[in-house]
Amino acid sequence: MIHARMLYTAAMIQSAQRIKNYHYAIRHVARAAEELARTGRQITYLNIGDPQVYGFRPPEHLVEAVARAAKDGFTGYSQSAGLVEAREAIAKYATDRGAPTNSDEVIVTSGASEAADILLTALLDRADEVLVPGPGYPIYPAILSKIGSAARYYPLDVENDWQLSVDLIASMITSRTRAIVLINPNNPTGSIVPDETVRHLLELARQHNILVISDEVYRELCFTDSPTPASAIAEEMGVPLITLESLSKTHLVPGWRVGWMRFTHAEQMRDLIPAIHQLAGGRLCSPTPTQYAVRPALEGDRVFQKEFVKELKLRRDVAVKHVSNTPGLSCSVPRAAFYLMIKSDTLVGHSDEKFVLDLLHETGILVVHGSGFGVDAQAGCFRMVYLAGQAMLDDVFDRLGRFLQTHRDQ
Ligand SMILES: Cc1ncc(COP(=O)(O)O)c(C=O)c1O
Repeated sequence: MIHARMLYTAAMIQSAQRIKNYHYAIRHVARAAEELARTGRQITYLNIGDPQVYGFRPPEHLVEAVARAAKDGFTGYSQSAGLVEAREAIAKYATDRGAPTNSDEVIVTSGASEAADILLTALLDRADEVLVPGPGYPIYPAILSKIGSAARYYPLDVENDWQLSVDLIASMITSRTRAIVLINPNNPTGSIVPDETVRHLLELARQHNILVISDEVYRELCFTDSPTPASAIAEEMGVPLITLESLSKTHLVPGWRVGWMRFTHAEQMRDLIPAIHQLAGGRLCSPTPTQYAVRPALEGDRVFQKEFVKELKLRRDVAVKHVSNTPGLSCSVPRAAFYLMIKSDTLVGHSDEKFVLDLLHETGILVVHGSGFGVDAQAGCFRMVYLAGQAMLDDVFDRLGRFLQTHRDQ
């Protein structure tokens, strides 16, 4: 029998050109690991910031709220901007922290990721530029490449605890610059930008009429004092700002996809905000049942969070100690979150992605290359998630140390 496929020369269905540059390193290297896992290899996943993978569980009062909502039939669409009760809780949360906000100045989204996507799409035209931290969370450049705008990395200073320089950012502003992304605390470095620096950054943004987008998804997971919400500083200074937050990390529910954006000095964004609402309407709403977690999350008990942070700090200390005991490795001490940006002397001058894939194939350990976060591919950096317990971290650094030793001796 002749199959229809044999009669035609197969024409390839092409993807869009703009997607060719869409890279999201964290999931990208995971695909290589999945292939290896299919061959029966044991993989140690230290690539993705999901606390559940390492046994952390959300607090019962959130699980109950969502289970109740699902059971009681709250599974229809919500308003595109989100459930009123969720938005009111977010507005109160912001107001209590120094950024007076109304519930109609909040949009609930499927995680902070969707908030970033909607916001950047509403803000930017092709070839517009956004300044993003390097290293920084890669969803921003990925979204920008998808919509045809450009990410320009403002380098953080590795010698100075990965701090940003407002002067350097100022020197990068062009007539096409529309926004500056601040990630505070930062992923992958765990560094915290001091309030004074945020103030200078907002002053710069005001001078150039540029929007500041403040990603604060780790603000409640600090080992020292949390930074002041940038919205509280912006409120006081009279500068427009959009904050992105979510329950993913702070409440241990990354798969529930609950996040939001909130506006400070909305009166200065009268053109932008309706555009954001227009796009939010186009995707109907974010999942309804999990939005019922927002109020209990923001107003309920936080003991679980204190314990989580305490546990993270112990794990951070274990990981940092291992780094300083491993010849050729160095890092700054993270002050928040659960990521460690490690520099390897052996790796400097070589492709960091090749290093990550070699490490994966030889040891089964999966980390993410530094260039996936916007640092130079030959700078010798990679990111490790330190959510694993002490025994696993001991074992990982033992294997990593031997891998580096072998490669140094070659
Ligand atoms: C800095 C930062 N922002 C935003 C996100 C997205 O989080 P979500 O979409 O789960 O809220 C992440 C996730 O790792 C992150 O690290």
